[in-house]
Amino acid sequence: MVALCSALLAAVLGGGLWLAARRYLRPAGRAAAGLMRGKTVIVTGANSGLGRATAAELLRREARVILACRDRGRAEQAAAELRQEQALERARAQAPPAAEGCPAGELIVKELDLASLRSVRAFCQEEEPRLDVLINNAGVFQCPYMKTEDGFEMQFGVNHLGHFLLTNLLLDRLKDSAPSRIVVVSSKLYKYGEIKFEDLNSELNYNKSFCYSQSKLANILFTRELARRLEGTNVTVNVLHPGIVRTNLGRHINIPLLVKPLFNLVSWAFFKTPAEGAQTSVYLASSAEVEGVSGKYFGDCKEEDLLPKAMDDSVARKLWDISEVMVGILK
Ligand SMILES: NC(=O)c1ccc[n+]([C@@H]2O[C@H](COP(=O)([O-])OP(=O)(O)OC[C@H]3O[C@@H](n4cnc5c(N)ncnc54)[C@H](OP(=O)(O)O)[C@@H]3O)[C@@H](O)[C@H]2O)c1
Ligand SMILES: *[C@@H]1O[C@H](CO)[C@@H](O)[C@H](O)[C@H]1NC(C)=O
Ligand SMILES: *[C@@H]1O[C@H](CO)[C@@H](O)[C@H](O)[C@H]1NC(C)=O
Repeated sequence: MVALCSALLAAVLGGGLWLAARRYLRPAGRAAAGLMRGKTVIVTGANSGLGRATAAELLRREARVILACRDRGRAEQAAAELRQEQALERARAQAPPAAEGCPAGELIVKELDLASLRSVRAFCQEEEPRLDVLINNAGVFQCPYMKTEDGFEMQFGVNHLGHFLLTNLLLDRLKDSAPSRIVVVSSKLYKYGEIKFEDLNSELNYNKSFCYSQSKLANILFTRELARRLEGTNVTVNVLHPGIVRTNLGRHINIPLLVKPLFNLVSWAFFKTPAEGAQTSVYLASSAEVEGVSGKYFGDCKEEDLLPKAMDDSVARKLWDISEVMVGILK
């Protein structure tokens, strides 16, 4: 009995310690401050989750970060919080004040609704002197059947088509600013997808998990086709999966009230924090290690293999051609 009790106690204590260690002894990698000084980075969906954490980390590296978000209020709120966090961190680290005319990073909010081609075009018309990194991060996960302003199924429309148009409209600016980078946030769930060319907007039949997987597979095929097109330009494009991260992505998933505390406990213990989940995005955006690397798939800051379906170049090309027609940039 005593043995059992002490074993239980040890297990609980050990588990608790392990959880605490996960939370507090493994902070996000402290980056070389100033690594991104003078660089302009666009992060889509930067008001929440991974995008917000990515913006925070790039701000630490002193980048000029454009938060490209659909809701100005939510984005301004996130920007204010991030600025305050940064000021506190700098004060704590007794960092010297930023030099005159060379701010230690900057956050700029710009409106971008990826569910509206009109909004994407308007966003790209605002002149930016340079663009060093574009991070296609925003995403919708397993929403009920909805259509974008232009009549596309929401997940395919936002996760793939909106970013497809955005990237194409920003390519000249990226080329002018080369060496420059594009980072695409996909998901391991691409494995359960395929590109259903005969019903891309799922008008015949909507399966929300299939459509998420289809859109994340599209992210990878897009990356590989774009990498091919960008050969020799010094603009690279890579794609990543962040792992399972505690964010607002599950907003459309209904968890029964009684199961919620358990879910919260499990996600607190086993899911990555946004700061941890953002590490691969930040790595691909800023590390010298991936200079010149293009068309690759990453997880935990390492290259990973893809299933054959994500490496089918003819599907990638076909998807590119159809996407051009759908967003109206066919030349
Ligand atoms: N969390 C994970 O476990 C996980 C796993 C694999 C992949 N991912 C990928 O990680 C990326 C970021 O997701 P997250 O987990 O950080 O989720 P999140 O907290 O829900 O953040 C998603 C962001 O996308 C934005 N967004 C949604 N629809 C948009 C639209 N029409 N136009 C512009 N922005 C839009 C959201 O804006 P609002 O706040 O205004 O809605 C929000 O800023 C997604 O691409 C997702 O597929 C996440
Ligand atoms: C929806 O798609 C997923 C895979 O993406 C599959 O596992 C599931 O069985 C599908 N559901 C239905 C009702 O067809
Ligand atoms: C790419 O970068 C290399 C090395 O910096 C440079 O020599 C080359 O001219 C660049 N090419 C283009 C197309 O900018």
